Amino acid sequence: GPVIRFGSARSRSENPSNRSLELPPLNGFLARQLIERSRLWRRVLAPRVGHMAAESLQQAVVLVSEMVSELPDIETLDIDPLYAGETHLRAGGLRMTLTETPGCATPQTSGYPHMAIHPYPTRLVHVRRFNDGIPWVLRPIRPEDGEALQEFIRGLSERSRYMRFVSMMRELTPRMVSRYTQVDYHRELALVAATQVPNPANRGHPREVLVGFAHYLRNPDGRGAEYALVIGDDWQRRGLGRQLMTALIDAAREQGLEYIDGLVLSTNRPMLALMTSLGFTNDADPEDPTMRRVWLNLT
Ligand SMILES: CC(C)(COP(=O)(O)OP(=O)(O)OC[C@H]1O[C@@H](n2cnc3c(N)ncnc32)[C@H](O)[C@@H]1OP(=O)(O)O)[C@@H](O)C(=O)NCCC(=O)NCCS
Repeated sequence: GPVIRFGSARSRSENPSNRSLELPPLNGFLARQLIERSRLWRRVLAPRVGHMAAESLQQAVVLVSEMVSELPDIETLDIDPLYAGETHLRAGGLRMTLTETPGCATPQTSGYPHMAIHPYPTRLVHVRRFNDGIPWVLRPIRPEDGEALQEFIRGLSERSRYMRFVSMMRELTPRMVSRYTQVDYHRELALVAATQVPNPANRGHPREVLVGFAHYLRNPDGRGAEYALVIGDDWQRRGLGRQLMTALIDAAREQGLEYIDGLVLSTNRPMLALMTSLGFTNDADPEDPTMRRVWLNLT
């Protein structure tokens, strides 16, 4: 996939360990890290460049990342020199080469096979409202949601946690946190429901909390995926479970999965009722009479 390099033109030929390279897509945080890792920044720019100019450099790197993500026909793009001032950013020269055979589809509709890392699927972000008008956001999880996800899981009642994980665990292991938050959006998906609550620690200014979590991970057969869903106890029976699950099914179908399935405790009436109402079939699990295999054919 594409690679973004930040540095001086001279550094192109220098020792690779001095080069600052990163795989797009880059958000502001990653773009900043790319710039600050470069020898050019450490040796030349850091002592001279002001806050505004550094911000606009960072923004330029993010824009380059967006271009190469959304335009797979770009083979190389070289901006040199780039002048970063306090009030403006100017490219003194720009060279671009395009691939010999143009791709016909846009990544937004056909995916991102030209990228090593699949971009965050912003098209799956939706602002919704509870019946009382309070807004909540349905969105794919982000790597930076780790702490919020852990807080959400810890805050569940023992019953909800048990229904979801079929274990007495109180919180996620660090490995589970990274497994759930660092998702390969091309092959699998984790969706969260997030809303704002007042934050007494910050004079009541609102902060975002997670109130629902749904995901699917591919099964070893590559054709189907196993889903799971949990809604915060105080947020149940407001339609979140149905909406997260519906969004998950649509995304699984879009990714070409043939079925999704999950194991649900036979005593879990709310989940069995929800899934039945969404058209899922509910079979006995031959290996474990306490569980039901609840699945949906997507083809
Ligand atoms: C099961 C669960 C996800 C449902 O989420 P939810 O947001 O409360 O569900 P919704 O408000 O969208 O309700 C959707 C449907 O589910 C069913 N349902 C939900 N809660 C129910 C309950 N307590 N009793 C009976 N049916 C219930 C109903 O059919 C409901 O439709 P309706 O509102 O038209 O009657 C939630 O109870 C939960 O997180 N439980 C703990 C974790 C768990 O069991 N996960 C499943 C294991 S993978």
